[in-house]
Amino acid sequence: MSKTILVTGATGNIAGLVIPELIKQGATVKAFVHDASKAEKIKEAGAEIIEGEYSDQDALNSAAEGVDAVLSITPPNPDAVSQAANIIEAAKKSGSPFFLRCSAIGAAADAPTENGKFHFETDEAVIASGLTYTILRPHFFMQNTFMSVDSIMSEGNMYLGMGEGKLGMIDVRDIADCCVKILLEGGHDSKIYTPTGPDSISFSEIAKIIGEGIKKEVTYVPVTYEDVRKAILDMGWGEWGAKVMADYSKAYSEGWGDFTTDDVETITGNKSRSYKQFFDEVLTWGFNKPSES
Ligand SMILES: NC(=O)c1ccc[n+]([C@@H]2O[C@H](COP(=O)([O-])OP(=O)(O)OC[C@H]3O[C@@H](n4cnc5c(N)ncnc54)[C@H](OP(=O)(O)O)[C@@H]3O)[C@@H](O)[C@H]2O)c1
Repeated sequence: MSKTILVTGATGNIAGLVIPELIKQGATVKAFVHDASKAEKIKEAGAEIIEGEYSDQDALNSAAEGVDAVLSITPPNPDAVSQAANIIEAAKKSGSPFFLRCSAIGAAADAPTENGKFHFETDEAVIASGLTYTILRPHFFMQNTFMSVDSIMSEGNMYLGMGEGKLGMIDVRDIADCCVKILLEGGHDSKIYTPTGPDSISFSEIAKIIGEGIKKEVTYVPVTYEDVRKAILDMGWGEWGAKVMADYSKAYSEGWGDFTTDDVETITGNKSRSYKQFFDEVLTWGFNKPSES
């Protein structure tokens, strides 16, 4: 029988890939969105759009009514714990559908960032909720490197505060594949996974892959954590987001993210995608790569 699935954070990176695939595979999707004007793509894919705020318990309760499963995604922000608590509460009220939660790498009480601490608090709340759950704690997204496209195009440089730290970063397409598999086929109850890419790589190596791809010298320029904080503030993410990104940068530069797992293959049966594959199939469009002819 076809499943009805509530997806929150529905216009975001992960959900934007998960929703069309769920629908393609026969599921009915209720998409909880912040701003319906950003939801055209998922609406065209066939999702029912429900506009609301994570802070609106009634809106979440009504969105969760009658669903078989919930994919819970909240953005990193100072209110993430209470926002996620409202999603958990809505699931419990609606008859306890299966609950798939997107957490983050290294979620722990002593995580090096407040985002990681908040994710841990919510993961614990999910475990204590009595809901049947699976938790994904993905590694750093390869898609984050889209943020460097402009400086690479204009100066040939990418600026980050990761030092020479290596990261087992993951293509968001692999996270989406994990979500679809778990939501439609189950089999991972009470499991917590840390999906990663196949390789742990540094930004110097990434600059080389991008440079070879766009046939231009690309240099990774390590910057200080304070420069990261200022750059994130300039992007309008606020003090909380700026500190979180500076703290992640410090942790990654100290080797905190230098590991890989087989979790993508365990869940999907396929090996995770490499950075080169991500460049060729996704990031290259950010550079408006001229045709080879
Ligand atoms: N980036 C990484 O490297 C990384 C790594 C591991 C884990 N994570 C975790 O992944 C999660 C983010 O996933 P993502 O990148 O797929 O999400 P995302 O692209 O940040 O999207 C977040 C979604 O939530 C919506 N939203 C924001 N505020 C809302 C509100 N108050 N009420 C209702 N909806 C709201 C946004 O809508 P609008 O666009 O309309 O605001 C958007 O659709 C975070 O929990 C993060 O910690 C990230």
